[in-house]
Amino acid sequence: MSLITSLTRMRLTRSVKPFIFNNEYDNELPFDECDQLGLYVHIPFCRKICSFCPYCKQPYDRELCNKYIDSLLKEIDLVTANMRDRPKEVTSLYFGGGTPALAGGRLKEIIDALNKHFDIKDGIGLELHPDDMKVANLNLIKNVGVSKISIGIQSFQDKYQDILGRKSVDSQLIKDTLSQVSFETVSMDFIFALPGQTFEDIKRDIDTAFEIGANHIAIYPFIDFDFTSSKIPAMSKKEKRALLDKVTDYCESKGYERNSIWTFANTHEASYSSMTRDNFLGFGCSATTLLKDQFKINTFSVEAYCKRISDKQFPTSLTIRFAKRQRMVYYLFWKLYSTRLNPKEFETFFDASFDKMYGFEFRLAEKLGYLQKEKDGSYKMTHKGAFYYHYYEQYYTLAYIDKMWGIMKNEAFSEKIEL
Ligand SMILES: C[S@@+](CC[C@H](N)C(=O)[O-])C[C@H]1O[C@@H](n2cnc3c(N)ncnc32)[C@H](O)[C@@H]1O
Ligand code: SF4
Repeated sequence: MSLITSLTRMRLTRSVKPFIFNNEYDNELPFDECDQLGLYVHIPFCRKICSFCPYCKQPYDRELCNKYIDSLLKEIDLVTANMRDRPKEVTSLYFGGGTPALAGGRLKEIIDALNKHFDIKDGIGLELHPDDMKVANLNLIKNVGVSKISIGIQSFQDKYQDILGRKSVDSQLIKDTLSQVSFETVSMDFIFALPGQTFEDIKRDIDTAFEIGANHIAIYPFIDFDFTSSKIPAMSKKEKRALLDKVTDYCESKGYERNSIWTFANTHEASYSSMTRDNFLGFGCSATTLLKDQFKINTFSVEAYCKRISDKQFPTSLTIRFAKRQRMVYYLFWKLYSTRLNPKEFETFFDASFDKMYGFEFRLAEKLGYLQKEKDGSYKMTHKGAFYYHYYEQYYTLAYIDKMWGIMKNEAFSEKIEL
């Protein structure tokens, strides 16, 4: 599996050098020079921990959560201390977790702190657990400026919630709640390829989601991360392919717009993605920052995070300083995840000829039927391309994220990771 990712990396970076993450960082980040910058804030607390979940999280504790938010506000001050232009225009702000609504009472402080330095153009998104779906909670987050929500449904069917070790979801209650408080994007997360799951099961979930108020859905394939304690068996590749093909055909037959490999919307305006931005600044435990020539990851330990901040140091655990080709591969990976790549945008971003760099690979992918060229010169992923990308993304997730997050969960500041 990692052989595939290594070979692809070598081909695309034209180098045998692995991606090297080091335990080093600067106490200043050159984000002022980045256009299309997005913001991300991580809140690592949950009411109950799900065994299958790979994210950085721990059981909610009111006191610890408050201490964490105090540190988060200080991290914002530290990171923005040397800004030249204020406020800087940014695309969007996403709150993820964990369960960010558990810090609902303090979201305003975080948003105010960010608004002092940034001008957020495309709205604020926040992840919700079904238990957060109460009118008072939704009003609270809406009043502080949240315009997009994403609800972790996973499945409307009890048998799959049982497999996942989660409670059943009351779709009528969610419908009633959503009918009282509106948002520009209402996204719902589902997990597919659970043992025994059929296309009919997923189709019913998709239909229910759009019926009860979603205008966007994310259908993630179940990933069995090595470092989680999940005992859920993964579905065979063949069954998964058949399911994904049917789901894609179904969503397309309903006219839903695919805006990334695993997401579909029933209106052009609905969008929810914290990952598909050219550059982003991440705050909080495990949050990542991607800039022109570097990528950094904050520590996964809440305690170590608070300690670094109280020492007025960045909470960075690992940094990779990209060679230009490596940064290009990163760019291609996330652009293709959004199913579309515009060579002109690539050229503006890198000040380099797309044709010289990747013309051969993209023409080949077009010939093989993975991509098709649009009138404006953009490449759009075909059905077939999206399927193979979906596989590649899973390989990537297992080869890179599984290894890295597995180490970072156990070591607050690891020495070096080579991928
Ligand atoms: C941070 S959670 C969403 C918000 C909230 N914490 C919740 O669980 O409802 C992000 C999403 O990742 C997806 N996810 C988590 N673990 C996964 C796994 N092992 N495989 C695939 N998707 C997963 C789930 O769909 C989940 O809703
Ligand atoms: S899936 Fe959501 S609720 Fe469950 S542990 Fe992960 S972040 Fe927390």
